[in-house]
Formats: sequence, structure tokens, C-alpha cells
Amino acid sequence: MIVQASAGNIARAAELLQSGEIVAFPTETVYGLGANVYDAGAVARIFEVKGRPKHDPLIVHIADIDTLQELCELTVPQRAAVEMLKGYWPGPLSLVLPRSRAVSDLVTAGLDSVAVRMPANPVALELIRACGFPIAAPSANPFGYVSPTTAQHVADSLANKVPLILDGGPCEIGVESTVLSLTGENPVLLRPGAVTLEELERVFCREIQVSGGGDGAERLSPGMLDSHYKPSTPIRFLEELDLERCPPRVGLIRFSGSQSKAAGVAYAVVLTLSSRGDLGEIASKLFAALRKLDQMALDLIVVDSCAQTGLGRAIMDRLTRAVGRN
Ligand code: TXA
Ligand code: MG
Repeated sequence: MIVQASAGNIARAAELLQSGEIVAFPTETVYGLGANVYDAGAVARIFEVKGRPKHDPLIVHIADIDTLQELCELTVPQRAAVEMLKGYWPGPLSLVLPRSRAVSDLVTAGLDSVAVRMPANPVALELIRACGFPIAAPSANPFGYVSPTTAQHVADSLANKVPLILDGGPCEIGVESTVLSLTGENPVLLRPGAVTLEELERVFCREIQVSGGGDGAERLSPGMLDSHYKPSTPIRFLEELDLERCPPRVGLIRFSGSQSKAAGVAYAVVLTLSSRGDLGEIASKLFAALRKLDQMALDLIVVDSCAQTGLGRAIMDRLTRAVGRN
């Protein structure tokens, strides 16, 4: 059931979480499906509801930086790195750090590390505080599908499996958090997000390694599959579109008002995410656009692309996975 994120309903959601239930809640990135991080049964239920493989670890959400002490065991350099990054909390940055014994294997998928973030969303923060424990939460979508950026998106695929969905309006950022690993000698970017690689390189005053697809990266961040964020409708990049072999019903998601690249096809529908090609606006509307076109019985979704810098790296990362390997 979707309910407005009023103080009363946040308290109700906290009670549900305290009693071992799962609850969907808004964050500034995407909606999360939360459970008490210390309740093995509730955490197991998240995997079950999402159809998520057990080897894909969850992000733990906190409302207070001191909670890190209970979740992680930090070395001196890790403490210093967290200190350098703490200006990004609350915000769309998840840090992978050595876990403490308080965090179960189910949450971390058996890894020695745990991903932690402090979301910049008043509802999420109030909910975590009301619970009195950190909330383990993946995105509130069936595994492999497009992440939800509204309460209705959550309800569309999980309504009968989640007792409560807190509606805090559409997510401001619209793509999942940046995931940065601090477990090795050097920081490694596991998933690009709104805290950009360029910003992180400025913070650390050096180049940061980006884990590419396949081999090593999959072990580093087990959830980063090549095929993910996928609508059911086939999807291609506009630049790969073969005009000769275009099926009848094609929908286009374009990033700006410029028409040129899209010419030559009679599109069944065209969604323009930003008149000015603003990356923030594109990111915030992208998943809703994919979901909308996926419900229109199209033969093909065609999507624009952008330069892989700044927030463009996160946008292209998600789209490349949505297009997937063929
Ligand atoms: O913005 C977000 O991060 C959203 C909201 C709800 O906070 N959450 C989210 O969770 O996107 P999820 O489960 O969809 O993605 C978590 C990602 C996965 O790619 C997972 O593999 C990675 O974080 N991850 C989690 N724990 C990890 C760990 N210990 N080591 C490496 N990667 C980890
Ligand atoms: Mg996800």
C-alpha cells in the first residue's frame, strides 16, 4: 500500500521494520526496499521479494556518521579517507569498508566488506532515526529491472509483496548512488553516480581506478552485471539504429530538443528528457521514461547517448547495461 510520508506514516513504517517487516521508502537517488540490518529474516525477505541472487550484497543506510563504528572496522588510512569524504554525506555516495562482526553474511553476500551510505532525503533519515537501527536496502525493483524513482514504480512491480510504500515524491537524482571501495590500497570506483569520478579525483588529488565490466570488477562489486536495468522491450542506442531494419513501433528517448540525429524514423512516441540537454534533468527522468515506454507495447526503444564525463558516466553506465550484451 502506498501512503504519504507523513510523520505518522514514517512512525508506522518504523514499527513495521522493528517487527521484522520490509518497507519501501524514498531516497534522493531511487526508492529503496528496507529491512533491519540486524534481522536476518527480514534481510532474507528482501532477497526473496526482489528475486535477487544471494551473491549480490546490500547497501546499509545510516542517519548518523557515528553509526559507522558499529558497522565497520576501519584502519587509520580508511578513517582518513572517510574524513575526506564526509562532506558528501548525507548524499549519493556509498562507501565500501571492512565490515564489523555485527553485519551478517547475508547483507554482505559473504564479503569482508560492507557498503554504507547516508541518504540525503528527510524521509529516509527520519525513518532510520525512528527505527534506531541501520536499514539495509537495495533499490525497490525486481532484480535486473529498471530502478524505481517514484512510489508508483515500486507498487507497479512489488505492491502485493511489500506491506508499506512510503511516498516521498519523485527522487531528485534518479540514478543510484556512486559506490566507492575503500578496502584496498587505493580507492576504486565500483559504480558511477551523482558524486562524480572527477569530484572524487579532486578530493583524493589523484586518478581513481574505475572497475570495468567483467572479470575482476564482478568480484569487486558482485551486483554490477553487464545486463541490468533492463526494460522488457528491446532497447538500442540511437547511434546503433539500423534504419533499414526498423520495426513498426519504435519509441525514442532523447536527451535534448535537437531533432537531427532522430530523423528518418516515424516514431510511435518521442520523450525529450531535457530541452537543454541538462545531465541532472536527464538522470532524474531517465528511469521513469524507460518504464513508461516499456508499458507501451513497443517493438523497440531507442535511446540517446551522452559523453561519459561527470553525471554522464552514470547515465551511460545504466543505459549500457540496459542495452546489455547480445
Ligand atoms: O542509490 C542507491 O545506492 C540505492 C538506494 C536505495 O540507496 N540502492 C541501491 O542498491 O542501488 P542496490 O542493491 O540496487 O545496489 C547496490 C550495489 C550493488 O552493485 C552491489 O554489488 C554493491 O552496491 N555493493 C554492495 N555492497 C558491496 C560490497 N560490500 N562490496 C562491493 N560492492 C557492494
Ligand atoms: Mg539495484
